[in-house]
Amino acid sequence: MTTPGHRVAVLVSGTGRHLETLARLCASGELDARVVLCVSNRPGVLALERAAAAGVPSLVLAGERGEDERGYGERLFEAVRAAGADTVVLAGFLKKLWIPQDYQGRVVNIHPSLLPAFGGKGYYGHHVHAAVLARGCQVSGCTVHLVDEVYDNGPILVQRWCPVEPSDDADALAARVFAEELVALPEGLRRLWAQRGD
Ligand code: GRF
Repeated sequence: MTTPGHRVAVLVSGTGRHLETLARLCASGELDARVVLCVSNRPGVLALERAAAAGVPSLVLAGERGEDERGYGERLFEAVRAAGADTVVLAGFLKKLWIPQDYQGRVVNIHPSLLPAFGGKGYYGHHVHAAVLARGCQVSGCTVHLVDEVYDNGPILVQRWCPVEPSDDADALAARVFAEELVALPEGLRRLWAQRGD
């Protein structure tokens, strides 16, 4: 058996549904990678239980009083480096992240809209889907993109779309979009690795 090629750190703040899926895809060999670390900025979240269940080492790293974005990022990437991760996935990580030079082009985010629509500060979780419905959009979807210093802004790796149905509420739309996210995230990682050639 060959050793999986990529070492992925997954950053979470909540339920960790993508963490669970990525760990499963890695374990089954569908993704040529291993989840080597889960970092949550919040203690006690379901994602940490999911990490434990999947045998993924985890760490709670909350922001400290008076600490700026860079200070937090430096602490976080120290842990990411120590875990030997070559790729970082923001999978429901609700904190603005500073990225050091050696991880530029290696941090991926999944966002539940077709960026650049409905992205940026304040657009997370159900706020996104409620705004899509309020605007009367007929399609929505998700975006996997590289992270840069601006919220939801970096180059796009994969987008998948789905219809918005007239009867949708935010929950129904979120569920339909999430089904697309489950396909988009592994696809985005494969595309990134193919682009990087590693
Ligand atoms: C997903 O909808 C993703 O697009 C967004 O956070 C959600 C996953 O996090 N970035 P969680 O499983 O709900 O905690």
